[in-house]
Amino acid sequence: MAKDKIDMELPEVLPEHIGFIMDGNGRWAKKRLMPRTFGHVEGAKTFEKIVRYCRDIGIKCISFYAFSTENWKRSSEEVTAIMNLLSQYIVKAREHFVEETRIVFVGDKSAFPEDMRQQMISVENDTRHFDKMTLLIAVNYGGRDEIKNAAKLISRKVKEGKLDIDDITEETVSEHLYTSEFPDVDLLIRPSGELRISNYMIWQCAYAEFYFSDVLWPDFLPGELNKALHSYAARSRRFGGV
Ligand code: FPP
Repeated sequence: MAKDKIDMELPEVLPEHIGFIMDGNGRWAKKRLMPRTFGHVEGAKTFEKIVRYCRDIGIKCISFYAFSTENWKRSSEEVTAIMNLLSQYIVKAREHFVEETRIVFVGDKSAFPEDMRQQMISVENDTRHFDKMTLLIAVNYGGRDEIKNAAKLISRKVKEGKLDIDDITEETVSEHLYTSEFPDVDLLIRPSGELRISNYMIWQCAYAEFYFSDVLWPDFLPGELNKALHSYAARSRRFGGV
């Protein structure tokens, strides 16, 4: 179990896929008169604590927005700092293979340096057979970009005569997303007081429950996650039915 004090029992109903938008690192650092990059370092520590906790309590799939297609607009210092944290995590993740967590990087990997891209692919290949939990890390990820890519892949199949246009269903689109093997998001968590989903898994969140919190991401420890889990368990999900 994670060491942070957890002040609530777990609810009976747990989500299958929890998505996390790790927001508020910059503000967390600013409040401490520290550079934004310090906030990301602390945010990465929280990420690791939440991953461990989710595995301990039996969540099957978790995903994290680590770097969006828009985040390249940030200063080169900040982009480099986030890339370094990701690279460090890739190395560290190898030491935790005993935990049997499958790791998948979702997003357009072609924008990354070749060595980093290879490291990501290698971790994906080496964890492919693990089924305790799946950890999806969204890197150079954008929901619209993902759907655009799916449209291209499907169009190509139609053009090559491999798919009939009338056979295109919602499942066809889902099957061409980065997340084709994984369940839709059940619970999307965004800390830091922002009330938007910022292009995160927009297709997969169609029926997700949203949980917003004012806590900044570095402080979003397992006790905060438990509050979100209780909120989720108390909701009635109807998926458009009655
Ligand atoms: C958003 O907060 C956070 C990011 C764009 C980066 C998140 C990256 C990490 C936590 C580290 C690397 C990830 C892994 C998986 C090791 P913000 O900086 O926009 O916060 P602000 O709104 O307060 O400025």
